[in-house]
Amino acid sequence: LRILSIKLAPLFDITKRMEINEVQFNQSAFRVVFGDSWTNLTDILSDSPFICLVDRQVFDLYQDQLNGMRCILVESGEASKSLTVLQRMIEQLIAFQADRDTLLLAIGGGVVCDLTGFIASIYMRGCRVAYVPTTLLAMVDASYGGKTGINFLQWKNLLGTIRQPEFIFTEISFLNTLPVRELRAGLSESIKHAMIGSSARFDWIEKHHTQLLNLDQNALKDLVIHSVHFKLSVVAQDEKEIGLRRILNFGHTFGHAIERSNLYNHGESVALGMIIACKISELHCNLDPAITNRLIRLLDSLGLPTHHQFDPDLLISHVALDKKKSGSKLHFVFLKNLETPIVEKVDNQLLLKYLKEMA
Ligand SMILES: NC(=O)c1ccc[n+]([C@@H]2O[C@H](COP(=O)([O-])OP(=O)(O)OC[C@H]3O[C@@H](n4cnc5c(N)ncnc54)[C@H](O)[C@@H]3O)[C@@H](O)[C@H]2O)c1
Repeated sequence: LRILSIKLAPLFDITKRMEINEVQFNQSAFRVVFGDSWTNLTDILSDSPFICLVDRQVFDLYQDQLNGMRCILVESGEASKSLTVLQRMIEQLIAFQADRDTLLLAIGGGVVCDLTGFIASIYMRGCRVAYVPTTLLAMVDASYGGKTGINFLQWKNLLGTIRQPEFIFTEISFLNTLPVRELRAGLSESIKHAMIGSSARFDWIEKHHTQLLNLDQNALKDLVIHSVHFKLSVVAQDEKEIGLRRILNFGHTFGHAIERSNLYNHGESVALGMIIACKISELHCNLDPAITNRLIRLLDSLGLPTHHQFDPDLLISHVALDKKKSGSKLHFVFLKNLETPIVEKVDNQLLLKYLKEMA
C-alpha cells in the first residue's frame, strides 16, 4: 500500500483564521478550506451567484447567518436522497433561474452533500458545486472524494457520479450543535481511516477519545485534518475506484447491509461492519484477535454499537444487493493488520461460511 503524500497543510495550524489548500487531481483542482467563521465563507464565495441547499435542522439552527441568502431546504434524513426530492430541488432551481454559472452550496451532512453533488452533476449537464459539511461524518469523509449519489428503491447510492466540488469549507464549530449520536457516527469513519491507514492514528484516537466526545476543538481539528489528508491521498491515486480506493470500503459491505435494518445510522452501521470485517479477517488472513478486541473497546468507549444479532443468510442476501458486486463475487476489504488492508474478490458463499463460523 503506497499512500501518495499530497500537498496539504502539514498539520493544520489552528492559530490561523483561515487556511486554504489547493488540491490537484488528474482532471480536477479544488480547494480544501478550514475557516473559523462564516465571514471566511463569504470571502471565498466572492461575487459568485450561489444558491444554498441546506439541511432543514441546520437551517433552523443557523438561519441568522443564512439571512439574505437564497436557500432551498432539504428535509433532514436519509430519505432525502431520493428521486422525488431530487425532482423538487430541480423545480426550485428552475424557479430561482439557476444556470450553469450558479454555484450550488451544500450546507449540511453527508445527505445534503451527496444529493447536491448529484444535482450539480446533472443540472444543465453540470453546474458548479461546493460543500460546507456540518456533521463530523461529512467533515472527515462524505464531502471528500467526489462521490455523489441518491438511493433508488432498495439500493443505496445506486444513482450517482464522481465529481469533485470547487471547494470544501470546514468550520469545526458547527459540531457544537451536533447531536452526540451523530458525532459518534463521524468518529466511526475516522476510526476506519486509522484502521486501514495509520496505526499511530489509531493509538491517537484511543488516547483522545474523551476530548473528542467532549468537543475539544483542537482534538476535533486534528482528527478532521488527518482523515481528510488520508482520504484525499488515496482518492488522488484512484479517483474512479478501480483499485486502491476500494480500501475505503473497509467495514462497508456489511455496514451497508446492516444499515438496511434502519436501526442504525451510517456511522453506527460502519462500526458494526468493521467488527464483522475484522472477525472474518481473523479466519481469512489470520488477523490477530487482539486488534479486533482493541477496535471493540474503542468503539465501546465512544458509545458506538459493538453488538448486533444477525441472521447470516439474511445479511448475505442484503450484501447481494451491494452495487459493487459482479455476479456472486464482490471485492471485500480484509485486514491483515492495522494499516494493512487487503482487497480480494470473493464469493458470497465464502463470506456466508465465515459468518456462520463466527456466529
Ligand atoms: N459521498 C461519500 O463519499 C460518502 C461517504 C460517507 C457517507 N456518505 C453518505 O453520507 C450520509 C450520512 O451523512 P451524515 O452522517 O452526515 O448524516 P446526515 O446528513 O443525515 O446528518 C445527520 C443528522 O445531523 C443533523 N445535522 C447536521 N449538521 C448539524 C449540526 N451542525 N447541528 C445539528 N444537527 C446537524 C441533520 O439534520 C441530520 O439529522 C449517508 O447517506 C452516506 O451514504 C457519503
